[in-house]
Amino acid sequence: MSQRTVHLIGASGQLGTALRATAPAGVVAAPYTSDDIDLIRRLSVRDALAGLRSGDVVVNAAAYTAVDDAETDWDLAFRVNAHGPALLAEATAAAGARLVHLSTDYVFSAPPGWTVPLEPGDLDPEAEPESIYGASKLAGERAARAADPSSTVVRTAWVYTGGPDSPDFVGTMRRLEAGRPEISVVDDQRGSPTYVSDLARGLWELVGHVGAPGDITAGADLHATGAGEATWFQLAQAVFAGLGADPGRVLPCTTDQFPRPAPRPAFSVLSGRSWAQAGLTPLRDWREALTEALESR
Ligand SMILES: NC(=O)c1ccc[n+]([C@@H]2O[C@H](COP(=O)([O-])OP(=O)(O)OC[C@H]3O[C@@H](n4cnc5c(N)ncnc54)[C@H](OP(=O)(O)O)[C@@H]3O)[C@@H](O)[C@H]2O)c1
Repeated sequence: MSQRTVHLIGASGQLGTALRATAPAGVVAAPYTSDDIDLIRRLSVRDALAGLRSGDVVVNAAAYTAVDDAETDWDLAFRVNAHGPALLAEATAAAGARLVHLSTDYVFSAPPGWTVPLEPGDLDPEAEPESIYGASKLAGERAARAADPSSTVVRTAWVYTGGPDSPDFVGTMRRLEAGRPEISVVDDQRGSPTYVSDLARGLWELVGHVGAPGDITAGADLHATGAGEATWFQLAQAVFAGLGADPGRVLPCTTDQFPRPAPRPAFSVLSGRSWAQAGLTPLRDWREALTEALESR
């Protein structure tokens, strides 16, 4: 039997790098950086994916991810995050391939006081995400699904690599722990921290399901995050504790005390039910994953 080819778009990003590092035997992983494929150029997408075949999978881990910059750079955010996935979906639809498109918890805007993990079906058809980034990602989900109804959307959240030099939240906390006696971190935004290696392994499991008997992931919206929930303050405390530092050096503050250009949802914990119903292994508890992330880097 021939090996499945999996085209990794955004191969040099945080998730793309983890996907390349965890590619299982039995697949040919074809990586594409932004030098190989530019999602805002139709001809670039067409030429790069000219060899796409039925049965291939395209994993789109490329995105405009600068959440705050998107508030002013909205034109580019929409071109990359909404128009780009549509171009990929046109290619997969034409070839009979499957698009697995990554999206975000920031497509949701839970009402104040909401505490129940969000299901895919909770997304209001009239949903208005709180940020331009969220709006561009929601537009991308819809554009991909319109161009290729078999597209699988995977929403994730609060992704980190955790290395001491990495720009993600955990990496940032590591550097702050080394450089400051005390830090203040917002305690009124709640989500699910997700270790990028766990997410990558989950996506490879999903890829293995594509087209297999009983596969229900075609046209599905799935949620893949670390299990459990935390505020940024709690995550920061866990990072300090994991490094052997005093978590009391992390102080809680409110979003109002730490204003950012883009508003963030106060609650964006995603339910993993759709993921489990598709027969996929739930990602482990975020605290366990964080321990491994801190130890391995
Ligand atoms: N990080 C999180 O906390 C988080 C949370 C929820 C959802 N997500 C979603 O998860 C996915 C992966 O995120 P990530 O953290 O891996 O992002 P990332 O590290 O910022 O990587 C994004 C990648 O997209 C590429 N890219 C940007 N513009 C492009 C274009 N016009 N054409 C082709 N490639 C382009 C970038 O290439 P260059 O480096 O060359 O510019 C980069 O490699 C995204 O869909 C994101 O929305 C992430």
